Amino acid sequence: MDKFLIKGGKRLEGKVTISGAKNAALPAMAAALLTREPVVLTNVPRVRDIGTMRTLLEELGVDSSLQHKDGGYRLEILARKLDHPLAPYELVKQMRASVLVLGPLLARSGNARVSLPGGCAIGARPINLHLKGLERLGAKVQIEHGYVEARTEGLKGDSFTFDIISVTGTENMMMAAALAEGETRLQNAAQEPEVEDLAQLLIAMGARIEGAGTGEIRIQGVSRLGGATHAIIPDRIEAGTFLAAAAITGGDLTVENAEPAHLGAVRAKVEEVGVRVEILSTASGKETGRALRVFAPDLLRAADLATREYPGFPTDMQAQYMAVATQAEGTSVITETIFENRFLHALELMRMGADIKLDGRRAVVRGKARLSGAKVLASDLRASASLVLAGLAADGETLIDRVYHIDRGYDRIEEKLNRVGADIRRISES
Ligand code: EPZ
Repeated sequence: MDKFLIKGGKRLEGKVTISGAKNAALPAMAAALLTREPVVLTNVPRVRDIGTMRTLLEELGVDSSLQHKDGGYRLEILARKLDHPLAPYELVKQMRASVLVLGPLLARSGNARVSLPGGCAIGARPINLHLKGLERLGAKVQIEHGYVEARTEGLKGDSFTFDIISVTGTENMMMAAALAEGETRLQNAAQEPEVEDLAQLLIAMGARIEGAGTGEIRIQGVSRLGGATHAIIPDRIEAGTFLAAAAITGGDLTVENAEPAHLGAVRAKVEEVGVRVEILSTASGKETGRALRVFAPDLLRAADLATREYPGFPTDMQAQYMAVATQAEGTSVITETIFENRFLHALELMRMGADIKLDGRRAVVRGKARLSGAKVLASDLRASASLVLAGLAADGETLIDRVYHIDRGYDRIEEKLNRVGADIRRISES
């Protein structure tokens, strides 16, 4: 398993380029199952989860080809026939987003066998709302031997209200409803930019969808969908992670190929702690998004935080914010409202000298703490990012084990950080 060896104390300065959003690319890949025509996705990030989703699509009998294009992948997916609608446990346990094939398989072929994802480091993360929603559209769902068996003679549009806002739940329902007969209305739907990006792809494929990006989405089913070409939106969590990296090292970073409109709550929070953020339009005319320039002060001010569904502060940035809060003057109370166990990074930050008290879904962070490099363990994708940020600010060397977690969602983060002054060495161990 690879490790990162980080020499702390370097101020970051220069330009980083943001890759495409993993959490937009994964549902987009699943959407390709809805048609027998080719779907081409560009600006796909080179991260492990994309490879896992490709393997899953191949398992379903779907061909895909990959080309390296400036900074990302160009992915062509051809789901001519789905002769094996089974998502096996071995793949689903690696990546919960595999559940995104459930809706498309049902809609396209009328049956699906998808392993239940099982637990994960940050919480139980059930998929009961996905199943309830698909049943509302007429699917017969059974759970046995750890698998969801779903089948339908033909999905029919209906109204469905999510009693908890679910990003992939909304995405599964949107994809299933696209080929259902009649209208489907989703209420209390997730408003994340990744949901909206999926809707843009589906509309390009011929779907009739209104309201994506708001809490109420209406889908008029159509009889078939065609192919399309679609550019994946920039990754707002990667961009936010680099804003946090500038903040924690007192740096000056230009974050290119980002989409400032998706970073409202994150920008507001980093500005509250004293970081200046300017929006630039990329002189180099990058194809998607614009740039942000971040100037961090020498001293950060503490600020409380509560994670919320979009457009609130994203839970996927909570761990990164906690690392920054350890360096801010004063006490920051962080409340994680989305997942029940998303403070694993706090335990490792404490080993580096952070002063954090955990109390259920609240973490009380007292700064400014002097962090010293240590051997730490990554537990999940965003916790790993938090440990990298802490390593950048710590005195001495930090050795992070199990960085495969970070490779799931960041495209060569150590190369991007080293290009702006960090000192991170990847130690590959067979
Ligand atoms: C998506 O996960 C993201 N993953 C997560 O990013 C992100 O943390 C999460 O949304 C919240 O923003 C992808 O998009 C691939 P949810 P998802 O369904 O859809 C409960 C990362 O770092 N819930 O919005 O699985 C659930 O337990 C990952 O890239 C139910 O109770 O999250 C949680 O408490 C980590 N029943 C809350 O809703 C359900 O059927 C939000 O979960 C579904 C969800």
